[in-house]
Amino acid sequence: MKTLDKLDIKMLIDSRSIHSKIRELAEVINEEYKNEEVYVISVLKGAVMFTVDFIKELKMPVQLEFIRLSSYGSGFTSNGKVRAVDISLPDLNGKNVLVMEDIIDTGHTAQFLSNFIKSNFKVKSYKFISLLDKRCRREVDINPDLYGFEIDDKFVMGYGLDYDGYCRNYDYIGYIET
Ligand code: IMP
Ligand code: MG
Repeated sequence: MKTLDKLDIKMLIDSRSIHSKIRELAEVINEEYKNEEVYVISVLKGAVMFTVDFIKELKMPVQLEFIRLSSYGSGFTSNGKVRAVDISLPDLNGKNVLVMEDIIDTGHTAQFLSNFIKSNFKVKSYKFISLLDKRCRREVDINPDLYGFEIDDKFVMGYGLDYDGYCRNYDYIGYIET
């Protein structure tokens, strides 16, 4: 892996486009749930930027939880094994659950979460919301209920997504050729 200063990061999605997309996505949820309460479950660490900007646009009562999963290690490709680092959740029976992810790639994480939540709770409704969708890399048959941008098979970073732990603080999404 290259060090950060040697990386040639190109712009993929700028900050304005991210924010207008987030308002669009939040509008869908505001319409669908009106005054119903929602439980937002954000997957650390990558989805943190997306989550905080998204929930600011929500108009109904919101509860926020974080879980921490790990599948990528420090390489460029998911190994398909999802590890729950911290998945302690409150009682979600009868709740409207929105799971928030930065990106859905192979789909293993999304599948793991959907199975985990549906086998532990009888939720009222469940939605998986991902800012990015790298659909061309899917290994399991699962798609987000709502997503921001479909992207090609590029390694992306910024706005929560990391390159070897770095770049999460960028206000845009960039990519490198791998
Ligand atoms: P999946 O289980 O293969 O769908 O991978 C999901 C996780 O892999 C995401 O939550 C990200 O943390 C990570 N990931 C996938 N693609 C990228 C990328 O291009 N850049 C940074 N992280 C990524
Ligand atoms: Mg992630």
